[in-house]
Amino acid sequence: MSKKTYSALLFIFILITSCVQNDSTDTASKTAVIEETSTQKREVPFEVSIDEVKDYVPDITVVIPHDKAFKEEMTFLGFSLNSLIDSLVADLENTDNLQATFVCTDGYKPSIPLSEVAKHEGYITYQKSREQLKVWADSIKERIPPYYVTWKTDTLNQDLINPYGVTSLRIEMIGFNYDKILPAKVKEDSLLSKGFKLYEKMCMKCHAINQEGGVLGPELNVPQNITEYRSKDFFFSFIKSPMSYRYNSKMPPIPLPDEKLGLIYDYLEAMKEFKVLEED
Ligand code: HEC
Repeated sequence: MSKKTYSALLFIFILITSCVQNDSTDTASKTAVIEETSTQKREVPFEVSIDEVKDYVPDITVVIPHDKAFKEEMTFLGFSLNSLIDSLVADLENTDNLQATFVCTDGYKPSIPLSEVAKHEGYITYQKSREQLKVWADSIKERIPPYYVTWKTDTLNQDLINPYGVTSLRIEMIGFNYDKILPAKVKEDSLLSKGFKLYEKMCMKCHAINQEGGVLGPELNVPQNITEYRSKDFFFSFIKSPMSYRYNSKMPPIPLPDEKLGLIYDYLEAMKEFKVLEED
């Protein structure tokens, strides 16, 4: 190769690489800007306000053919729950055993495992128009904003949670802080642990034990355990029909067979030996 051709080639090579360089530094700086805001190093558990993270993912208009709460086809403005969670956990090495917990204005705190979210198409929506609020009962329509979570499914899926009044999202271990609500010495397959699992599934999003859990309903263990001031009969009958005690009760009737309610009762009663009260 002559010296001339060599320098010409070298020149072209430098030209090309510098273009590529330029191009990539350009995109790199763009991604860096996005990354600065969207994927800060986070450690589990963490909580983000939806207002603060909603710009990580683009807004879209989504048609929900089967909305559990509205009971009809709905069109919302919102953004993908899956994409938001993906961006929040992008830096985490292991997302097994993590759950998303939605913190709501009324104290409701339902959770769903990330593995479950990944199997569906979820959306965090805000209302498109006041019109849509008409279908809600007066008692709750003021509480739907700021965000309502819904899912795009082929058929109505009753198992998915549809929290409204959502303000923030927590990513935490499934079982986060469970030591406070299930003493470590309780055997995995014991009756107490069965009672706990029922409580966890049916009651914990609204009730707390040792201040861990939801706050819509009353705390059930501290300073007094519910079984220390309520009879077993009251417990059974109240849970089956809270409205027959208080006409405006915010607790829904929970149709569980006596055998299962008994397991929950036993778990709650046992917890009186494990009180943890942190005064602020
Ligand atoms: C959707 C939220 C919600 C769920 C789920 C829920 N509760 Fe409640 N619970 C409440 C609220 C709110 C109250 C206060 C009731 C009222 O104002 O009448 C309450 C009240 C109670 C009381 C009566 C306390 C008292 O002394 O008056 C008991 C006992 C109770 N709940 C147990 C349970 C158990 C056990 C479960 C699960 C099987 C459960 N709750 C599920 C919201 C809930």
